[in-house]
Amino acid sequence: MDNGNAGTASKTAKLRVFRGDASGGKLEPYEVETYPGMVVLDAIHDIQAKQEPTMAVRWNCKAGRCGSCSAEINGKPRLMCMTRMSHYAEGEPITVTPMRAFPIIRDLVTDVSHNFEMAKKIPPFTPRPRDADGTWRMKQEDIDRIQEFRKCIECFLCQDVCHVIRDHRKDTFAGPRFLIQLATLDMHPLDTLDRRELVKDEFGIGYCNITRCCTEVCPEGIRITDNGIIPLKERVADQYFDPIRWIASKVSGEEKKPKAKLRVLPPDPRPTDVPAGGKDRR
Ligand code: SF4
Ligand code: SF4
Ligand code: FES
Repeated sequence: MDNGNAGTASKTAKLRVFRGDASGGKLEPYEVETYPGMVVLDAIHDIQAKQEPTMAVRWNCKAGRCGSCSAEINGKPRLMCMTRMSHYAEGEPITVTPMRAFPIIRDLVTDVSHNFEMAKKIPPFTPRPRDADGTWRMKQEDIDRIQEFRKCIECFLCQDVCHVIRDHRKDTFAGPRFLIQLATLDMHPLDTLDRRELVKDEFGIGYCNITRCCTEVCPEGIRITDNGIIPLKERVADQYFDPIRWIASKVSGEEKKPKAKLRVLPPDPRPTDVPAGGKDRR
């Protein structure tokens, strides 16, 4: 039971934390004194301060806002700063490991740059010209539909848990975080580009089999699958697999929106003999 502040007496918690790098590593045991309201990131900081000054961990806000402290706690993708120690039964060892979908750098820090490269490929928001009076008018219901997706803090926990990224198609599948970004653009009432061909061919939406694992781990509670991915799948299916709509588009001739093109990225400036984040551990 996670009551956050149960009790006032100090207790000892047992943790097992991954220590290592791209060449290998193992779980090391630690004990920390707990206090009411303590979160897993506090415990890692305690270990850093008193036992292992070289332990690597990425964090910034300690408030669930920056998305930096993503890790796997007892195998589940979570933000360390938003996971209370009291969430776990007393005496139960708490295992903290780095996100497994991304190459490890050191200890709890992984190289998530793959996500930033994916983000750069998405054709950006391209609004229509302003109205004659200089404004952009939109219906509130259109805005409400995409507002939820803007809560994303880019923690990449959804990317970490997605089995398509973990086990199969890291480079040809955008992943849940970027599928909701594509859904945001596709549903945006001002945007003028048709990205559906890219969503199908370059960002691999067909690989998603709507298991909803991404939705379950999202710390912002975004209904990634039901509100983002499934409507986006339907829009792509309408365009390419609905014979009536296909015939209608051929008869009517022109596309309503110009088709978006994949953004061509400049070559990676990093020297090839210096790995950015070690080898992929998948
Ligand atoms: S619903 Fe789709 S994107 Fe989300 S975890 Fe499952 S396969 Fe991945
Ligand atoms: S959608 Fe949720 S889980 Fe995925 S990156 Fe954004 S906040 Fe994190
Ligand atoms: S430290 Fe910012 S989300 Fe955890």
